[in-house]
Parts: sequence; structure tokens; C-alpha cells
Amino acid sequence: DVEAKIDDWLSRMTLEQKLGQLQQLDADFPSGRLRDDQLALVRAGRLGSTLNGRGAANTNAAQRVALEQSALRIPLLFGFDVIHGYRTVFPVPLAEASSWDTQAAESSAAIAAREARAAGVHWTFAPMVDVTRDPRWGRVVEGAGEDAFLGSSFSAARVRGFQGEDYSRPDRVAATAKHWVAYGGAEAGRDYNTVDTSERRLRELYFPPFRAAVDAGVASFMTSFNEINGVPATANPFVLRDVLRDEWGFDGAVVSDYTSIRELIPHGVAADDADAAQLALNAGTDIEMVSRTIAENGARLVADGRLSETTVDDAVRHVLRLKYRLGLFDEPYVDESREAAVLNDPAHRREARRIAARSMVLLKNDGGALPLPENLRRVAVVGPLADSKEDMLGTWIGDGKAADAVTVRESMEELLGRRNVRYAPGCDAPCAASGGFGNAVAAVRGSQAAVVVLGEPAAWSGEASSRSEIGLPGRQLQLLRAIHATGKPYVVVLMNGRPLTLDWAARRAPAIVEAWYPGTEAGRAVTDVLFGDVNPGGKLPVTFPRNVGQIPIHYDQKPTGRPPDPANKYTSKYLDVDVTPQYPFGHGLSYTTFALSNIGVSPGAIAPDGEVTVSADVRNSGRRAGDEVVQLYVRDEVASVTRPLRALRGFERVTLQPGESRRVTFRLDRDDLGLIDARGDFTVEPGRFRVWVSSSSVGGLEGGFTVEE
Ligand code: IFM
Repeated sequence: DVEAKIDDWLSRMTLEQKLGQLQQLDADFPSGRLRDDQLALVRAGRLGSTLNGRGAANTNAAQRVALEQSALRIPLLFGFDVIHGYRTVFPVPLAEASSWDTQAAESSAAIAAREARAAGVHWTFAPMVDVTRDPRWGRVVEGAGEDAFLGSSFSAARVRGFQGEDYSRPDRVAATAKHWVAYGGAEAGRDYNTVDTSERRLRELYFPPFRAAVDAGVASFMTSFNEINGVPATANPFVLRDVLRDEWGFDGAVVSDYTSIRELIPHGVAADDADAAQLALNAGTDIEMVSRTIAENGARLVADGRLSETTVDDAVRHVLRLKYRLGLFDEPYVDESREAAVLNDPAHRREARRIAARSMVLLKNDGGALPLPENLRRVAVVGPLADSKEDMLGTWIGDGKAADAVTVRESMEELLGRRNVRYAPGCDAPCAASGGFGNAVAAVRGSQAAVVVLGEPAAWSGEASSRSEIGLPGRQLQLLRAIHATGKPYVVVLMNGRPLTLDWAARRAPAIVEAWYPGTEAGRAVTDVLFGDVNPGGKLPVTFPRNVGQIPIHYDQKPTGRPPDPANKYTSKYLDVDVTPQYPFGHGLSYTTFALSNIGVSPGAIAPDGEVTVSADVRNSGRRAGDEVVQLYVRDEVASVTRPLRALRGFERVTLQPGESRRVTFRLDRDDLGLIDARGDFTVEPGRFRVWVSSSSVGGLEGGFTVEE
């Protein structure tokens, strides 16, 4: 069996060869080829894996060096950031989470895996399952938002999508749950910054999506750049050994983030490279990405007794296990003839369009401004993101090409004919230059209606892309006001990688569609929604604050001893802004309306390990078919420790024809109702629980039940 084979390998490998398996280097990004010095390391058995090496011919060429020219002939492993698509780019993960449709995320991950594997990639550094409550942090775009429950559902779905039942198959890849852990807790939303958080918060907020990934069989973990309560994650034995290995029984590989082992030196916990290598390996990191502290110091550390060879063997075992599970010892090469047909397959593009439209959130729609009337002929398409191919895809676009992307302008022209579309960007995306918006205003004046596409340049979210102000960039709001002043009907489409403070736009624009970065089929998905071919059904997976000062603002706040009360100054609120958000978690409108009724909670009392069923009717009370995401929230009213005002514990996206009704049923059990008590034990405490079945995290039908001793 595999473990016996690994034992056999370990018994035949020199220490240098073992250390080689722990080294990962960065191939040439533009070409996807390994460099000559890297191939020399492969030949010498000193390189176990790469990142960014890709392309069927490139990876096969490098694999031949490993298998034909190295002494041991252990296959190479090719990792890559396949985050929301490989060549066909799907909506950014935050957008997909807005669909509240885990099957959509599973489907897009499966397609990404199919394309990536055809291009020789074995292993993706995804899903990113970091929960964050700080939209200043640029990497909010890569995750599923602010909630641990929603995040866990998407984490498991993406792992299933990437890996399938068996990731040795030629259309699957091994997945990575990253970044372990609490990376989204960076102080002030500044990327890589300090994280100081309680164990309660780790276990309640940051751990669950990782646990869901482990339960779904995720192949690997990546450590995060940040420290956690004084100990950098890459050298943190509590999270890497105590929790991940001992509590959760994870037996996959743990890769560091890019140079994060060497970064233990600037963190101030390692004096030099040798120290860094020792700390990381002893804490439980297996593979070193890009820096070379382990390769260069491992042998000396073992000789000096600072590192045991058993620790090295454990790490190598994890790497070889991953290679076995990927089937690389049986089939190390990829069939080069498949690649061209698989990448950008029209079926993948159709699915990208479907999922992109499904991910959009109708934030506002006064007076039925949307959908646009069918008989609309002359339309102005304005705003800096209306025709910017590179901004359609968002960040971490794998091997995606901006040239493949369809913009809103292009799609409008496809639909209405070029003569009927007047395009003027108004400004570029940062919109910093002064000057009038004359062309854009003239285009709007000469049209029946306008579609205004605003937002952030794609590079403004993602890694190292934190912002201290999260409004529309530069003078985009002024552009919008100039268009508003024409008096022509208009709607706003937003493309952005984080919640924005929309301010005037939220108050005055008639309609706003949050499209995020929709991917290769962006424009077509936007027009599907604008013209009502797709009735938007997405909901926000993150709260939109009114201003930056409200951050962190999230729906599952704790109660405080002085809940906000407008009539009482000495309660928890602000002098200068309301405590409520601009748009709450779970919010999203539709072109139809829905009515919830008849909540049922049964039984009315359960034992601590019992189960409760909560159900309600949802009816499409409008005149169009549409989707509603029915949400279930829970509150433990009195407990030994404080509990959130509401915690999401269920959701279901349903499609209903006009007048159609459906009963939606959720089950709550111990896992949903429990808390971590003051001793650190997970338990369900007796007492009263409140539940809401609702269309967002605000309001809804209310019910309750009791947990009896
Ligand atoms: O996977 C990424 C990670 O999310 C951030 N640093 C670089 C890694 C590899 O590209």
C-alpha cells in the first residue's frame, strides 16, 4: 500500500534528497517554464514542486528531467493559483459566494480543475477560505465573505469541485485550504499585518471553513503570512500541530506561503535562515515556497541536533502522500493533445456566463428602474469599467486572458447593434485626473437611457491591495452626479472586489447592480441581468458599511450591555453615523417580490442532542419568475457566554414562478446550536432559542424553541 511504498522511499533517500522534496520554487510566470537552474535542481533531486510552472508541454518537459535524469525518479508536482478559473475565468470568489449557490461554486471549481489539469497543473492553491470582517483588506475578494457558516459551505463545495471523488483523475486537482489561519483578521485591514485574537474567535470565526475543508477531504493547507497572538502562523505549533494534526487528524501536506519561512526573520522570531527553517519544520510546515532556508540549512540543523530526521521524514511523507494521491507515480505526464480543446471550451464559457449572472446582487431598484425596457434602442454605456477588458476578470486570474473577456459595451453592442450604443468612459478607473465629463454626459443626453459602469480597477483588490478609504475611486462619484443631473434614466453597475461605501450613490441612484468582477463572460452576464433574461437572485455575503469608521461591521454582532438606543446617549452607537449598515449581510433584491409566511418550529422543546425542524412558506408574489435565498438565523437567548444577536445556520436558493409557493425546511442540530463554554468545551446549553426565517439578516419571520436539561 501507499504508506509502505513511502516507507520504502524514505529508507532509500539521502537527507539531501528528502530536503529536496520540501523545496518549492517559482517557475517563470509568463512562460510557465522552469528555469535552467531549477531544472538543474530537479536533476540533482533537490526540487520537489513548483508554482506557476504550467502548460502541458512545459510540465511534461520538466517531468521528463525528473523521471529520466534524476537518481530517484520521484515525479515533480506542479502547483498554481487556480482561484476562480484557469483559462475560462469565473466570477471572483466573493461574487460566487453572493450566489448563495454552492453547486455553482462546485461547478466552477470543477471546470477550473479540468482546464488546469489538462494544462499540466496538479495542485491549486485554493480555496481561500479566510473569513474577514474588514473590507479594507484587499483579499476579501478571494473568500466567501464575513460569515463562518456561509464560508464553510463554500469551502466544502470548492474542495469537492476541485478534487471530485478522486483527484488522481485527469480532470481534477488537489486543493489547498488557505491561509491557515486568521489572515483576514489583519489589524486595520492592512495586508500581512498583526493578528491578535482570542482562541474563542479563532474557533468560532476563523477555523470553521478550514474544518469544513478537512471534512471534505482537502489535500493540503497553506500557512498564512500573519502572526497569531505573537507567533507567526508558519511557525505556530498550536495551529499547525495541536489543532490541524492532533485535533482534526489532517494527514495532507502543509505548504508555506511565498517566502513566509524566511519572513520569520523580519517577524522577529528567527535570528537567521537556519533558525527560520528550524522553527517552521518543528512547528509543522512541510514545504517551503520560494525561500530556501530548509534546503540550505536542514542538513546542518539535523547534524547539530536542532532538527530531528524524524521531523524531516514526516514532512517528506506528507509530500510523497500528496504525489501518490494525485496518481503521479502511475501517470506523471499529461496528454498534450487535450489541452487546446479543453481551455476555453464553449461549454465552460456558457457555465461562466450562467454563474456570473447568478452571482449578481440587485442592491437597489427604485421605481422598477430595472429591468431595462425591451424596446430600448439608444443606450449610453458610460463609466470607466464599461469597456475595460482587464478589469472584467478581477485578481488571481490563473492563465486567463483579458483579450478573451467580453465587456459590457461589447455585449450591449452585440445585443442592440453598434449604432444604438453610445460609449464614453468619462474617465479611467482610478478617475484621478481633473476635467469635465463632457463626452459621457453628451452620450447620455443623446440616448434614451444610460448604463453607468463604475467600480475599482481590478488591481485594487487582492493581495497587497488594502485601502483606507473604500469609496468609488477618485472622481467617479462626480461623474455619476453629472450623469444624474442630465435627468435621463440610468442604472449603475458596480464592479469591485470589496464592499464599497456608496454614500450619495446609494441614496440617489435609481438602481444599483453589484456585479463584482464577473469573469470572462462579464458583459454578457451583466446584460442578461439588465434586460431581465436573468432575474437577479444574489445576496450579499458581506455587510456594506456606511463609512469606513463603522468597520468592523458585520451582521453577527454580540449584544453588548448597552444595545444601541436612539433615545439614550449612553448606549453603543456613534454620534455621527447610524449604527446600521448601508446594506446588510444577506441583502439582495429581485425583479419580482417574495412573501414569507407560516413559520413552523417543531418540536417546541428538545434535548441538548436533539434536532429541531424550522420551516416556512415562500411565495413569489410578483409577476416574474425569480430566485429567493431563504435564510435561517438562530440566537441563543441566555447562555453562559455571550452569543451573537443572530447566527446564520441555513440557507436555500429557490426558483419560483409567479404565484408559486414552496415550503422550505431547515434542520438544526447540536452543531448548529452549541457554543464553546468558558472551559473551552463545545456544548448545547439549556434555554430558549430564537429563530428567524428571512430574506436577509434583518427582519423575517420569528419563532422559537427550548432546549431542556
Ligand atoms: O497562493 C498564493 C498566496 O495566496 C499568496 N502568496 C503567493 C501564493 C502563491 O502564489
